[in-house]
Amino acid sequence: MPAAPFRTATYEAAPNIALVKYWGVRDVALALPFNSSISVTLDRLRTRTTVSFDPSLSRDTFTLNGRPAPPKALGSVSELLDRVRALAGTDDRAAVDSTNNFPTASGLASSASGFAALAGAATAAAGLRWSPRKVSQLARFGSGSACRSVFGGFVEWRAGTRPDGRDCYARPLFGEGHWPALRDLVLLLDDAPEKEVRSAVAMQSTVSTSPEYARRQEELPARLGRIRRAIADRDAARLFPLIMEECDSFRLVCETTRPPLDYLTTTSRALLAEVRALNAEAGRPVAGYTHDAGAHLHVFLLDRDVGAVRRRLRKVPGIRESLVLRPGPGGRLTKRPRP
Ligand code: PMV
Repeated sequence: MPAAPFRTATYEAAPNIALVKYWGVRDVALALPFNSSISVTLDRLRTRTTVSFDPSLSRDTFTLNGRPAPPKALGSVSELLDRVRALAGTDDRAAVDSTNNFPTASGLASSASGFAALAGAATAAAGLRWSPRKVSQLARFGSGSACRSVFGGFVEWRAGTRPDGRDCYARPLFGEGHWPALRDLVLLLDDAPEKEVRSAVAMQSTVSTSPEYARRQEELPARLGRIRRAIADRDAARLFPLIMEECDSFRLVCETTRPPLDYLTTTSRALLAEVRALNAEAGRPVAGYTHDAGAHLHVFLLDRDVGAVRRRLRKVPGIRESLVLRPGPGGRLTKRPRP
């Protein structure tokens, strides 16, 4: 008798960078955040993941960039696959093969693109014909920010207020072509620690110990509204100061966490100061910085200013590489299971 055919699907997704940060979970079991967040999905970078459910496998396998992934990573992948198996009514184990077209340890967060790609590929391979919203709602169980990478352009993850989480979902705000002149100058630093920090634990430590967290939550609804409107109007002069204010607020709650979460390095601090100085000298907000739970920086600016800003920031010693990225497309299935 021929072996039962296994079902396979491939999905591609890109990393995103948050302009308003997700930091704190109000319901761990349902993965519901305290506050809404807004991000930009980036172009050119992507994770491509193939999931094959195979009845002959005795356990899940996970290959990352051509090598067997560490047991911890396999554990997180299996947890998401367990959710898919329960929903699809199958016990089959899966072979997961994932590649990033950017170095995994480069500091460009790969967990958002990784879990978005895994959720997209696993649900399709299991025969679930899910909407992008449902795929996104699943992806957030792997990594919260992954729910935003299912969509392209400018994306909002709405925290919602319902205890059952039905009003918690990501949705596209504006497409990737909305603001053609906007650029993200990504600065990858030499002195950044290589290891990706596990944010899920760190953020809950902030929630329970930072005396600044409550104030941040009070400020966020107004800031979210202002940032949404500045993006809608493609207004760099309003947006750049707002994303720096938001980044500084995020950093403050991290630094006042006990024990403190100190993500920046000497180089990143020098670069933040340089961005502030160049804006002050120009007498207008030429650029706006942001960073996640790591030392690498994203500097938003307009295409006409890229050359001058890049030349100036490169004078700060310690930049390993700089990339100029644009808002990019959302996740997509590139290979569907056979009917
Ligand atoms: O998605 P996680 O669990 O890795 O947490 C992401 C946290 C930040 O990157 C700091 C903010 C965000 O909204 O992406």
